[in-house]
Amino acid sequence: MDKLAIIGGRPLFGEVTISGAKNSALKLMAASLLTAEPLRLSNVPALADVNMLLRLLAELGVAAERDGDGVELSAATISSTVAPYDLVRKMRASFNVLGPLLAREGEAKVSLPGGCAIGARPVDLHLKALAAMGAEIDLDEGYVNARAPHGLVGARIDFPFVSVGATEHAMLAATLAKGVTELHNAAREPEIADLAECLIKMGARIDGAGASEIRIEGVASLSGAAHEVMPDRIETGAYAMAPGVAGGELLLRRARLDLLGAAVGALQESGLDIEETPAGLKVARRGERCRAVDIVTQPFPGFPTDLQAQFMALMATAQGVSSIRETIFENRFMHAPELARMGAKISVNGQLASVVGVDRLKGAPVMATDLRASMGLVLAALGAEGQTIVNRVYHLDRGFERLEQKLARCGALIERVRGE
Ligand code: EPZ
Repeated sequence: MDKLAIIGGRPLFGEVTISGAKNSALKLMAASLLTAEPLRLSNVPALADVNMLLRLLAELGVAAERDGDGVELSAATISSTVAPYDLVRKMRASFNVLGPLLAREGEAKVSLPGGCAIGARPVDLHLKALAAMGAEIDLDEGYVNARAPHGLVGARIDFPFVSVGATEHAMLAATLAKGVTELHNAAREPEIADLAECLIKMGARIDGAGASEIRIEGVASLSGAAHEVMPDRIETGAYAMAPGVAGGELLLRRARLDLLGAAVGALQESGLDIEETPAGLKVARRGERCRAVDIVTQPFPGFPTDLQAQFMALMATAQGVSSIRETIFENRFMHAPELARMGAKISVNGQLASVVGVDRLKGAPVMATDLRASMGLVLAALGAEGQTIVNRVYHLDRGFERLEQKLARCGALIERVRGE
């Protein structure tokens, strides 16, 4: 398994080009199943998760042609409506093929994704939404069998709490349902508006995506379209924190401030200057050290759970004591003991972590159990004294495109050590 070797303590200067958003690209790719015509996506990040979904789509009969950061997906005919366990268990976003398959083909058999390191992550809201649209659903041997032989029908769906995946899934399925679907208490993450924008180009009738009430009027069929994936807001936030831990100044090309929600205020309060320029966002640390800031993770526009680990790394060397409350996932503090191996003073009590900032962290061998936690460790390493070895780089390869090249270009001493 590959590792990253990072020698910390060098300020970072230069430019980082922010890639297309993983969590948008994956849902946009699933949308290709809704039409027999080609869907051309550009600014698609080269990531393990994208490759994994391409494998699943190929299994379902979708032809894919890649050209640089573009991919043309063509689902002229669907050859299989079965998404097997092996291709769904490794990545939960694969589950989102269920709704499009059901909407277009009237049936689908998709493996349940199972839990993952950050929490149990059930899919009950996804299934309730599809059932409300008339799908007959049963669970058998770890698979969801869903049928809607006469097509899905529009429905009013009230989500009891906000779910990004369930909102996207319901929206995808509702585009081809008969009649009107209303989503109440929908997630407002920018990826949902991005997906809606693409679906609208394909001929879908959607109002309100990006707000908590979304109205979708089903159409008989959708057409092909071309769409550019929005910039990755989590990658943006993570790189914005890099000068916070290591010092220096970065220009984040293609980054957009409006996608960051409450993270902007938290970063500014911690002592980062963030300036919007025509080329992107310029980020620099104001003083010698950042300051402690309290955060609570919330659905958008609140502070994103996907930046919580990175923010904890920033707070590990900030002046003062910060409290970090995780409200989205029940087990998303696994980076805390790893940061502690580097000298961070963190105590965790249930969903609340308290971080007492220290002057400096020290490099150490560390290991992470999920993608964003790994990025937290990389950030900590950039500011730490000496060498850190980050194990299990495959987590990072799932969601951060060309990480070591992007950081090395700004002066970081970072190297991939190939494993067997
Ligand atoms: C998306 O996951 C993202 N993944 C996650 O990013 C992100 O952390 C999360 O949204 C929150 O922003 C993708 O877009 C591929 P949810 P999703 O449904 O859709 C519970 C990353 O690192 N829930 O909003 O799965 C769930 O367990 C990943 O890129 C149910 O109980 O998140 C969680 O506690 C990690 N039943 C909460 O809701 C359901 O049917 C919010 O989850 C669905 C969700």
